[in-house]
Amino acid sequence: MHNAKCTCWNCPAINLAGKVDFRACGQAGAQFDKKADDSQETHIMAECKRRPDLGLFDPMSITFEECPEWQKTPYGYLLKNMRVMILGVDGYLGWTLALWLGRLGCQVSGVDNYNRRNWVKERGAHTVIPISRMSERLHAAKEVLGVNINFREIDIYEERDKLKEFIDEIKPEAIVHYGECPSAPFSMIDVEHAIDVQRNNVLGTLGLLFTMRDIVPESSLLKLGTMGEYGTPLTGRPLFEGMFPADAVLHWDNREWSLGGELTPRDPVSFYHVSKVQDTFNCYEASKYWWLRSYDIMQGVIFGVHTEEVSADPRLRTRLDIDEWFGTIINRFVAQAVLDIPLTLYGAGQQIRGFIALRDAMECMTRLLASPPEPGQYAVVNQISGVKSLRQLAYIVAKVGRKHFNLPVQIQRIENPRVEADIHPFEALYEKLPKQYGFEPKVDIEEEVRRMFELLMKPEIRARIEEKKHVIIPKTWWSGVKREAQRIELINLEKEIKEDEERAKIFMGKK
Ligand SMILES: NC(=O)c1ccc[n+]([C@@H]2O[C@H](COP(=O)([O-])OP(=O)(O)OC[C@H]3O[C@@H](n4cnc5c(N)ncnc54)[C@H](O)[C@@H]3O)[C@@H](O)[C@H]2O)c1
Repeated sequence: MHNAKCTCWNCPAINLAGKVDFRACGQAGAQFDKKADDSQETHIMAECKRRPDLGLFDPMSITFEECPEWQKTPYGYLLKNMRVMILGVDGYLGWTLALWLGRLGCQVSGVDNYNRRNWVKERGAHTVIPISRMSERLHAAKEVLGVNINFREIDIYEERDKLKEFIDEIKPEAIVHYGECPSAPFSMIDVEHAIDVQRNNVLGTLGLLFTMRDIVPESSLLKLGTMGEYGTPLTGRPLFEGMFPADAVLHWDNREWSLGGELTPRDPVSFYHVSKVQDTFNCYEASKYWWLRSYDIMQGVIFGVHTEEVSADPRLRTRLDIDEWFGTIINRFVAQAVLDIPLTLYGAGQQIRGFIALRDAMECMTRLLASPPEPGQYAVVNQISGVKSLRQLAYIVAKVGRKHFNLPVQIQRIENPRVEADIHPFEALYEKLPKQYGFEPKVDIEEEVRRMFELLMKPEIRARIEEKKHVIIPKTWWSGVKREAQRIELINLEKEIKEDEERAKIFMGKK
């Protein structure tokens, strides 16, 4: 178990006592020797909110494997009935995680204000997999899975007092923050949308950080960022996990400095991505100032429709969008193939990105919940399970569609409405989840794509895709122009994708 040797120092159920110098910690979890000074005055002590009978004790003295409050699960020791609050619980990932954690025995609470449903409606689109109203979702979760979700309709940004009240009532031991607008093109529609996205995301998160400081400073925050925060450096510099490794060095003017532990540069590629970068700095600072514990999760593009829980009943399904604003690429490709629209590669189609399947992302989140950061620790993980060029992905979707469903799938290049490099080197680091948290991807991409075809080919779902055919080809240009991107050519990829395998690298550490 990856977290067996973690101690109460990591546990959200403790209160720190003794002479705690809040300025001493900051990012310096490793440097700050919790046991160095034996004098009573400076020694940090803890008391357990779940086991007050223990009195004051040394927080390093009890491990998760020794503590009866931490119980074995397939994803590590997990705090018994852990109170987890999911912000954005009505969304693609939030709903899926709520059911998943509920099944694992967590006490799940959730917050949403249906922004996503409204944004999609405003664009004239819809989720092609129909989703139930929240009241019906909650009822079905209880009836089918025996999972109780304590839901509150709250706008995280506009209704800070209500959120504060709810957090005070629940006292969550972890907060998963999915509650932001997740779309780059949506943020590029016009000034109103850019402002809305930044205000919603940045100020919502900033307010949350203050609330955590005041009410649950010991709770861990799992905040969703995106791999898109890093951009795609044309030098080929690896995309480290948030910070430079200890042996990174800056050479300049015949002098050199260590870069170890500094935040790596961010190069966002839309106003949405800028909001995520601003969140990064806000979470980093809050951890430093107030000893908050946070994971900033640089998540790759998610694909897929399946976990055991969401597939258990049609009322439990999570959303799936295929429009130009909210559809993610593999999900969009499958929908295009179902309608016989040639799969749309933007520009050269050689952009490389990190990906992860819905089910694998749920497992990563659970493993992180099971290993809360230390007080004051701001930690970054790259949450991906592979990297591929967009044309490699189109090729996979075409292959599965042709082989298993007899569809005549074609692939096209269209004008690229975005401002981005469409041919670039790419080396993403992906070491922490497998090495520190014991995660191994379980989902085979072709298998998940096959499962998506199966669902999206159902007549009633196919009809829903057909109904929204007009929102598939992009019309939102980063330049502000509003016109449909035009086809450049139909292409045959078989010969071309070999070279992408050379360029798309993932660094999983030395064996
Ligand atoms: N889906 C992906 O491929 C992907 C990739 C990288 C990062 N992410 C990030 O993961 C998170 C979840 O993504 P998702 O795909 O589930 O998005 P989603 O839009 O389906 O879920 C977000 C949820 O948050 C809610 N929300 C937004 N603003 C809110 C507010 N002010 N108050 C209350 N609720 C609010 C929305 O209504 C929605 O239900 C986002 O932060 C996104 O940026 C997603």
